[in-house]
Amino acid sequence: MNKPRSVLLLVITLLFIANHSWAQKRPGELSLKSAFSGKFEIGAALNLRQIYERDEQAAALINAQFNSITAENCMKAMYLQPKEGEFNFKDADRFVELGEKYGMQLIGHTLIWHSQAPDWFFIGKDGKEVTREILIERMRKHIQTVVSRYKGRIKGWDVVNEAILDNGDWRQSKFYQIIGEGFIELAFQFAHEADPDAELYYNDFSMSQKGKREGVVSMVRKLKDNGVRMNGIGMQGHLSLEYPSLADFEASILEFSSLGVKVMITELDISVLPMPGPSQGAEVSTNYQYDQVLNPYAEGLSAAVESKLANRYKDFFALFLKHHDKIDRVTLWGVTDADSWKNNWPVRGRTDYPLLFDRNYQAKPFVREIIEMAKE
Ligand code: G3I
Repeated sequence: MNKPRSVLLLVITLLFIANHSWAQKRPGELSLKSAFSGKFEIGAALNLRQIYERDEQAAALINAQFNSITAENCMKAMYLQPKEGEFNFKDADRFVELGEKYGMQLIGHTLIWHSQAPDWFFIGKDGKEVTREILIERMRKHIQTVVSRYKGRIKGWDVVNEAILDNGDWRQSKFYQIIGEGFIELAFQFAHEADPDAELYYNDFSMSQKGKREGVVSMVRKLKDNGVRMNGIGMQGHLSLEYPSLADFEASILEFSSLGVKVMITELDISVLPMPGPSQGAEVSTNYQYDQVLNPYAEGLSAAVESKLANRYKDFFALFLKHHDKIDRVTLWGVTDADSWKNNWPVRGRTDYPLLFDRNYQAKPFVREIIEMAKE
């Protein structure tokens, strides 16, 4: 083989090895899933590009690092039942097949949520708001059609998402206004009837807030007192460099676990960007005008912010490891920084760095330290 061709081949091989570095895990290299095995599952939320494996590097990373997956959007009601009685399971089926192909734990997100619920859910044929009876029947049909389709294949469902406000009050969602508090018990009952072996969860954000914690505890206690099957509480974990305090987060882990249910960190990300407004949580409807001052790291992170992020992640994973007897799963809300919803919330078009893998599919330097912590 002539000289220039062998040099070219060598360059290509070196490039391939460089690109397929640690994140895609060479044999013997520790991955997140092997580091945390026996402690808690480690998962990621997948978007459609990843569910259809249209991104080879992401596919390799997901398979190497994670043992649990959640669909970021395609299992939400507006996508599964866009019109009454018309179910569209194409993407969700693919998501479940992908998980089974790689032997992953599958999490169903989410059956009943005030956001991304199709408008027709709440409107009658007469164009007026539906009655309590009709909405209950629509909830039952949606939940039981979806849950029974994946019976025995989905480990657990986020049955109800974000029904309690930060001050502990019930969110004034259409479900709550039309049915009342009872909608949550009905949702869990319908899901349990459709798949008696599936785990059933309540999922919410800002769960370290005292008001929210107390509101969720009293709601879950009522469900359990009424004999409703309820297996776990999901703390979404949309965090920032300053908010919330570790102590508040730990207090919620302990309080929720004391109810005799599993605790899961279900949508973990740590934003480095300034929050334009007072609210911290993950109220999806929040939206602020773009302004360059709100997007300070478009060209890259300063070393100071990088180390703040590293310390924040290490602190939280140390907390999760400390309570691994109570925590069943930690799911990152996205695979790489490029995938994160935080690039477009609450301001569209920003550059955030909230996850463990960067835009080149590389593990951030502190990930190796987190893995060392797990070994200890
Ligand atoms: O599917 C349409 C596509 O057809 C259209 O071209 C595109 C144009 O903007 O929008 C696409 O829909 C977007 C959808 O994500 C799929 O990408 C919606 O606009 C966008 O609002 C939606 O955002 C999702 C958000 O939930 C919606 O509420 C985020 O990806 C997703 O990360 C986020 O996840 C939620 C959890 O489910 C619950 N907890 C909070 C968390 C963050 O908001």
